[in-house]
Amino acid sequence: MKILSVASEIFPLIKTGGLADVTGSLPKALEGYNCYTRTLVPGYPQLFAKLPGARQLHFFPDLFGAPASLLEARYEQLDLLILDAPALYNRPGGPYLDEMGRDHADNWKRFAVLSYVASAIAGGLIADWSPDVVHTHDWQTALTSVYMQYSSNAKQVPSVLTIHNLAFQGQFPTSVVSQIGLPPEAVSLDCLEYYGDISYLKGGIRTAGAITTVSPTYAREVIAPELGMGMAGALSSRPRALTGIVNGIDMDIWNPATDAYLPVNYDHKRIRLRGQNRAKLLENFRLDDGPGPVFAAVTRLTWQKGGDMLAEVAEEISALGGRLIVLGKGEKHIETALLAAAGRHPSRIGVRIGYDEATAHLIHGGCDVIIQPSRFEPCGLTQLYALRYGAVPVVSRTGGLSETIIDANDAAISARVATGFQFHPATAENLRFSIHRAFAAYREPKKWARLQNQGMKANFSWERSAEQYAALYAQLIPDRRVLQT
Ligand code: ADP
Ligand code: GLC
Repeated sequence: MKILSVASEIFPLIKTGGLADVTGSLPKALEGYNCYTRTLVPGYPQLFAKLPGARQLHFFPDLFGAPASLLEARYEQLDLLILDAPALYNRPGGPYLDEMGRDHADNWKRFAVLSYVASAIAGGLIADWSPDVVHTHDWQTALTSVYMQYSSNAKQVPSVLTIHNLAFQGQFPTSVVSQIGLPPEAVSLDCLEYYGDISYLKGGIRTAGAITTVSPTYAREVIAPELGMGMAGALSSRPRALTGIVNGIDMDIWNPATDAYLPVNYDHKRIRLRGQNRAKLLENFRLDDGPGPVFAAVTRLTWQKGGDMLAEVAEEISALGGRLIVLGKGEKHIETALLAAAGRHPSRIGVRIGYDEATAHLIHGGCDVIIQPSRFEPCGLTQLYALRYGAVPVVSRTGGLSETIIDANDAAISARVATGFQFHPATAENLRFSIHRAFAAYREPKKWARLQNQGMKANFSWERSAEQYAALYAQLIPDRRVLQT
């Protein structure tokens, strides 16, 4: 089966979050199920900086007002199609934000054009390769299936839209429709129309053959108003099309036994070696060593992730004899509150504002507890990395967090299946309570070692989930049927 994945980011070439981890690792896992993926990505400068070379497949003399090329390249195990459109992508800043942290003003166009080209590929743009299924991710590429609907060739190809995060919806004024090559009728209630504007994500929800979210729990949560974020209606109107497939992790990149970012490698049998990484981690953040647990978070510092709650519990962790390490960036008021706490307790609280892959790995390999107090979490990957690295997760019970961590209640402890601590609902008060539970468990070394061990043995490789994606693709293909309501 030939799959065209369309993505706005892909690890290890360009990443702002878990989306890149997924689009970068799922294709490798799918190969085991006879699915061969080419991924269409924008030609950002960060991408070209890492690619040794690329071959031109197609030249567009005038792609929505400027010349562009479609290139092909391989990078490690990834088979890439790159939309080299300098007018849209060759600029400073990240994939979505400029250097000042503001949205690129023409994001409506940057991602519409990417989606348009994906639909053209589905319609036969590349002479010797056309996909059996198109797989899009989030609002940035959700418009692909809308374009496909209006193209007689591409219409025949089934599509899957994966929603990684419903909070980002690609909402723009209706006036952009005439500038992105879609007919006025696309602005209808059963397509793009969204509270007087248009939403690229809603267009995808209404037109994709199948819709997935990144955990079964999140798939249930998004059809209710509380976490549906204005899309609950659109999603509930397609109940048979919507399923949840939990994310896996890249077992090669996140492997404590081989991780080159760790001062000392270890596995569940040599977990004692972790202590050396812990010491290096504390040194790296200039914190004093001590008997209490080292708590840590590697996260976007946003409302979704409960970054504000981290700031609220920071001093308590320090007062109880623990350490807190935070690596992240995001909303200024959260960054400021965390930095202020670190300023007051420089030997106990370490905060680094920024994005850094190497430090993220060191934190997982050295801290005792990973905290993730998300208000909603479609899947979450850091808790899965924590499990594999023998750090015990403290998480809110929502979305993917609720189904990937088993709370250390008495029953789970005696059945020897507990892997972490959960709290609900996501409030600072409940987080505080779980932190106390973690402190108490940490004081019992045997109990703690068992939690670590059980976590390290949990299997979150891509295998099962890749099989589910492959089955979904296959289900869509035979009679080219779209899973309508
Ligand atoms: P989300 O995609 O919502 O941000 P996930 O848990 O799915 O959340 O994925 C986050 C990914 O981004 C993980 O790979 C995590 O290690 C990484 N990450 C988040 N913040 C940072 C940071 N400041 N530095 C390095 N890696 C980070
Ligand atoms: C999103 C979600 C996160 C998920 C990731 C990858 O960014 O916030 O929960 O793990 O996508 O699917």
